Amino acid sequence: MSQVVLVKEVAPRDGLQAQSVEITLAQRAELIGALVDANVPELEIGSFVSPKAVPQMAGTDQLASDLPTGNSRFSALVPNMKGYELACQTGLQQLAIVVSATEQMNQNNIRKSLNDTFLMADDILTRAAAEGIEIHAYLAVAFECPYEGLVAESTVLDQARQLMASKPARLVIADTIGAANPRAVKSLMSQLVNEFGSDALGCHFHDTRAMGLANVYSALESGVRQFDSAAGGLGGCPFAPGAKGNVATEDVVMLCESMGLNTGVDLKALLEAVSLITKIIGREQGGRSHSWLKHHWEKLV
Ligand code: COA
Ligand code: ZN
Repeated sequence: MSQVVLVKEVAPRDGLQAQSVEITLAQRAELIGALVDANVPELEIGSFVSPKAVPQMAGTDQLASDLPTGNSRFSALVPNMKGYELACQTGLQQLAIVVSATEQMNQNNIRKSLNDTFLMADDILTRAAAEGIEIHAYLAVAFECPYEGLVAESTVLDQARQLMASKPARLVIADTIGAANPRAVKSLMSQLVNEFGSDALGCHFHDTRAMGLANVYSALESGVRQFDSAAGGLGGCPFAPGAKGNVATEDVVMLCESMGLNTGVDLKALLEAVSLITKIIGREQGGRSHSWLKHHWEKLV
């Protein structure tokens, strides 16, 4: 099993999209720069969504056309074909699309039925394959939905198979409201790893109920090696009440590195990016390991 874990940093999108303070484009660009300096392998810079629906993500096109140089691979989230087209115009090569596992979450998030969302996902995946664009397909609220409650594992497995039939570069199982537990993760992810292989899969956890890192560990044990996380544990979804921050990148990096798995992330620079987030948001940010890491980061490198 691979000893390398790929971190997809999502603070500039999932982290910032639900913040109530005003955030300027210059601040978003500065954060992207700080995360590139931290050498995160993948970085979601924002989303191409309706500015009426998510005002914090307005201007992602401007960020995309002036990205810093470094080792990070950039991507953005697109909710529909219009978003796909706008993102492609900026030259981005890796995009994320989102299908929610329940009817009501699709309605609230992108104003489409579950069925139409799957049809749209297939349309985007087919077009992206022809145009050489890499798509990460997210299956959101894969454990529990804020509107419909628990989601059956069999439903998620069926939906995962349906999405995989359209050949995304990665299928990301997303615990949008942070309701998963390590056993449920192990059960679902080990079946998916068996069926599709670890390279095709990723996980996206929120830490709402203090199980974020335990869920990452459980997915690691199931063979998953690709994880979304947000520096400082920033995050939340404006359309999923109760969703708290993403699992913190510094916690995921610490967990992996202390178990001998390599992330390639520069922890010292990552902690500087977290300090920048604190400045932008105006409130102290940081994952569970943050204060320890601030004094002992060199023990892990
Ligand atoms: N980017 C920017 N504008 C978009 C857009 C996109 N991807 N998709 C649609 N629009 C615009 C349309 O051009 C139209 O503009 P107009 O009023 O000036 O004519 C307006 O939005 C309404 O278009 P419509 O297709 O009717 O969209 P909608 O009102 O049904 O909203 C979404 C659908 C998907 C655009 C909206 O719900 C959205 O942006 N959701 C994002 C959810 C999100 O980011 N969730 C968190 C991550 S999972
Ligand atoms: Zn999320």
